[in-house]
Amino acid sequence: MSTTRRCVCPGSYDPVTLGHVDVIERASKLYDEVVVAVLFNPDKVGMFTPQERVELLQDELAHLSGVRVVTFADRLLVDVCNEMGIAAIVKGLRGETDYSYELPMAVMNRHLSGVETLFMPGDPAYTQVSSSLIKEVARFGGDVRGLVSDRVLAALRSRIGGSGS
Ligand code: PNS
Repeated sequence: MSTTRRCVCPGSYDPVTLGHVDVIERASKLYDEVVVAVLFNPDKVGMFTPQERVELLQDELAHLSGVRVVTFADRLLVDVCNEMGIAAIVKGLRGETDYSYELPMAVMNRHLSGVETLFMPGDPAYTQVSSSLIKEVARFGGDVRGLVSDRVLAALRSRIGGSGS
């Protein structure tokens, strides 16, 4: 039986922010292996394709060993967990709104499969950072430097077509 302690950090990652990177870095100190799962609904168009999201994540996380990025369409997270021998879901919480959003999913996932969800307090430096807010601010020319990496900033700029800063 494998003794590898493995967790999953799931999300849409459209695109990855420095808040996500912080949570994944901290999870990688606690687990032998972190599976970063990009889960998407093929009927929902994001700003970045799943493959682009994976590539941005791979770039961001290249400095971490024991972290791999995978993508799944139309799958229950718990089925991915069972298939990959993942014992825990790790999610960052920025505040009460995140908790209200995450709690029903955590309870449902445990009901479905017994997989536990562990919540990690987000770094206060990134409390205001979400992928959707980043996209909205960048779309209207707001400055998102310091909240996403330079690579993601460049990807936002090229997607939006303007300065994005
Ligand atoms: O980036 P997000 O919006 O926080 O990600 C949410 C995500 C993708 C982790 C969540 O919607 C999810 O787990 N989707 C996979 C499908 C699934 O298992 N749904 C039931 C959740 S109880």
